[in-house]
This record gives sequence, C-alpha cells and structure tokens, in this order.
Amino acid sequence: MQITLRVKRYDPEAAEDRRSWTQDYKVDVPEDSTVLDSLIQVREYVDDSLSLRCSCRGAICGSCAMRVNGHAALGCKSKVQKVLDKDNVIAVEPMGNQPVIKDLVVDMAVFWSKVRQVQPWLQPQGPEPEGEYVAPNEAMQHLVGVMGCIMCGACVSDCTVLEVDKNFIGPAALAKAYRFVADPRDGTSKDRLALYDRSGGIWDCTRCFECVQVCPKGVAPMDRIMALRDRAIESGFTSTYGARHAEAFADSVEHSGTLNETALVVKTYGMFNFPKLLGLIPLAMRAGMKRKVPPLMHKPVEGVSHIRQMFRKAADREKAGHPQR
Ligand code: SF4
Ligand code: SF4
Ligand code: FES
Repeated sequence: MQITLRVKRYDPEAAEDRRSWTQDYKVDVPEDSTVLDSLIQVREYVDDSLSLRCSCRGAICGSCAMRVNGHAALGCKSKVQKVLDKDNVIAVEPMGNQPVIKDLVVDMAVFWSKVRQVQPWLQPQGPEPEGEYVAPNEAMQHLVGVMGCIMCGACVSDCTVLEVDKNFIGPAALAKAYRFVADPRDGTSKDRLALYDRSGGIWDCTRCFECVQVCPKGVAPMDRIMALRDRAIESGFTSTYGARHAEAFADSVEHSGTLNETALVVKTYGMFNFPKLLGLIPLAMRAGMKRKVPPLMHKPVEGVSHIRQMFRKAADREKAGHPQR
C-alpha cells in the first residue's frame, strides 16, 4: 500500500529561516507496517538525512516515542493501517515539551533530571535484613502497572501543564515517585511526600487525562498522582493550596451536592490571606461583566441526602481498608 508520511523536520545547522519545515514522503509499505517501519524505510531508501531514534522495535525500550497525528505514541506500536487518514496521510512530529535536537530526535536531559529529582531508588530504613528483602506478593501486586513504565516520555510530551509551566515535575517522574512511596520496602515515604508536595509537584496536575490516554504501557500517571495526593493528605500535608482546594471541593459537594465556588476560593487561600484574595478582584469583576458570578446563597440540591450517603459509604470503605483508587 502507498502512504504519505508528513514529517515535521528540523535541522539545527541550516540557516535560521530554513531550520524547520514539513516534508512529505510517499512510500510503499506492507499492510502490517508500523509507523516506525515506514520511517526506517524512508531513511534507508529515500532520504538518509532523516533522523529518528529507535532500538527494540517491539514497544520495550521506549526510544521511538514521537507524535503521530498530533498525539504522542510509540512509532513501533502504531500500525500504519490504524492511523492513516482518508488520503492515506500520517502526520509525524517529534515529541512535545522537549527541545528538538534534529527531526524526530528530542533532548531528554530535562526528562531524566526530573526523574532523578524524585529519588527513584529504594531507601529502606532500620536494620538491614539478612539476605534478600522479600516483600509479600500482595503488597507488590498493585505496583505491577506502574513498574511497566518504559520511560518513553510520551506522557511528558502531551502534558498540558508542562506546556505552560516547565517547573512541573511531570507525569513520568511522579508515576515513578508513586512506585517508591507505595513500595513496602521503602522507609522514607513521609520525606518523599514532603518533597513531592512542593510547588511543581503533585498539586500542579490539572487532571486533563492526556498522560493516561497516550501512555503506551497503561501506567496511568495521573491516577498515580491522585494516589500521591491522597497519601500526602493522610500523612498530614494539608496546608498547601492544592490540599486545601481538594478538601474544600469535597466538603462543598458533600454538603450541597454542587460546588460553592465562592467558599472554595476563600477556603483554598484562607480567609485572612488578603493579598491573594484581593488579587482575585479583577477576575471576579471580569466574571461579573459576563454574568458568571456564582450566587452568594448556596442551597443544597434536591436529593442531596443521596450524595451524602455516597460520601459516608466511601468513608466506610476507606476505614475498612479499601482505598478509593
Ligand atoms: S493529567 Fe496531569 S500530569 Fe497528566 S497530562 Fe494532564 S496535567 Fe499532565
Ligand atoms: S508513564 Fe507511560 S508514557 Fe510516561 S514515560 Fe512511562 S511508559 Fe512512557
Ligand atoms: S523502538 Fe523500542 S519502543 Fe519503539
């Protein structure tokens, strides 16, 4: 079958106004080809200046992540048949949120430095066990998913927060952080949670789900971040804006069945945090001009008792040792 690979190219050595361009490659590929197979075919037989990164070709090494039709994916896991548009075109770009070195190759130095920031190694405390430290099977089973991460960077590529805030540690590093907080052999979870509770950490995720959608290994980084938030609150880290926002949000829904936005802001920032609250006045005025000011009187919705019952059941489950996620 004949397909067109529409590749976003970048050559750092070209004149400044000609460094970036889009190039179409028409190639005949077998029906069961992957995007990576097709790109390798281009590089081998059509244009040897095309740069890309790959190794295992079997979705194991994580080195061939790129954007296929606008979303991060492994080139070796993306079947051409599945991603072709009606004109048999596939758009291929380098990953986002990481500087491009050449064509489809990005510089992952920042990615790795963020992974290092979360201290991705076991730190047992207390006397060393004689021989191997054997963790019970059931205590490790819930970590199998997160341990499947192949460090491909796809989640980082499409993280909407990283697009606007380079300080955010990001989904891959935080998923890795969860892996060690939840490991029964590690003895430093509280110190770890204190580290991840800071600006740029667990509270900066906006729950956009992008990382969950693009992860080729089902790691679900956002779910791990939410689990870290739960553990941080349980461990007493309740003074950040993020923690207070989460508590106030849940309180409001439990109390009235809907969100009391005015109370949410006040409870998040604190009643006497005048600089923050005054800083929100322009936003409130803009909302007022568009008639989007929340009502001052916040009444419970009809049937709120059912919602309260759900909260009670969830609390009972948690007490009985069944976490919510
Ligand atoms: S859910 Fe959070 S971590 Fe994942 S992509 Fe969205 S903002 Fe980033
Ligand atoms: S969490 Fe998923 S998308 Fe992110 S680096 Fe690991 S395997 Fe790749
Ligand atoms: S080449 Fe190894 S994951 Fe694609």
